[in-house]
Amino acid sequence: MSAPFIIIAIDGGAASGKSSSSRILAERFNLLHVDTGSFYRHITSELLRRNIPHTDLAAIKAELPKLDFSTRLNGRSAQMLIALQPAGDEIRDQRVNEHVAHYAAVPEVREKLIGYQRDQVNVAKQHGFRGLVMEGRDIGSKIFPAADFRFFMFADPVERAKRRAAEGRQDAIGQRDTIDRHRLDASAQGAIAVDSTYLTLEQVVDQMASLIRAKLE
Ligand code: DC
Repeated sequence: MSAPFIIIAIDGGAASGKSSSSRILAERFNLLHVDTGSFYRHITSELLRRNIPHTDLAAIKAELPKLDFSTRLNGRSAQMLIALQPAGDEIRDQRVNEHVAHYAAVPEVREKLIGYQRDQVNVAKQHGFRGLVMEGRDIGSKIFPAADFRFFMFADPVERAKRRAAEGRQDAIGQRDTIDRHRLDASAQGAIAVDSTYLTLEQVVDQMASLIRAKLE
């Protein structure tokens, strides 16, 4: 019998360590890596490009049905295409950093992404992955509440700001966290908490991997 398909949900704030951990877990367990923050970033970049401000809900609602999503693989990661176009590097720039939490707070934007995110299971299966690891803010609470593993990552804000600076990136972490917080709180319920403040990336991943292995074997 083939091994069961596994779903790992990892939620956490900006620079909490979820992206690096997800990538390594994807590698270790042959999983599709799905960074849902990059989906929100791509939509933000696209709506900004189309001159649709986050305050104009009517315009957002009118535009969303026109955004045609598809997926292609970039290594082990799922890359969202909008009208067959991948996101550019600008999705990590300051402009998108400043706007993304506002667009992500629009219920219609979130609704539009629910089905697309869940459909990544099919993408993973089609490409022969053993499962998927999806990172975001509401994955364990909303997208996959019955995931095999639900992790909630956090780290001290000072440490998180240092990590972004070390990456040479500016990010309004505190500001985004304030807007995103209510979704994160929901994610924390019943999830396995991982505090990465005083741990190296390797230690964090080893901790998560041993829990996963214990349940799989
Ligand atoms: O993980 P990130 O910092 O790249 O996420 C970018 C923004 O998208 C962040 O402000 C919160 C939002 N987001 C969300 O609301 N829900 C998710 N599942 C993922 C990201």
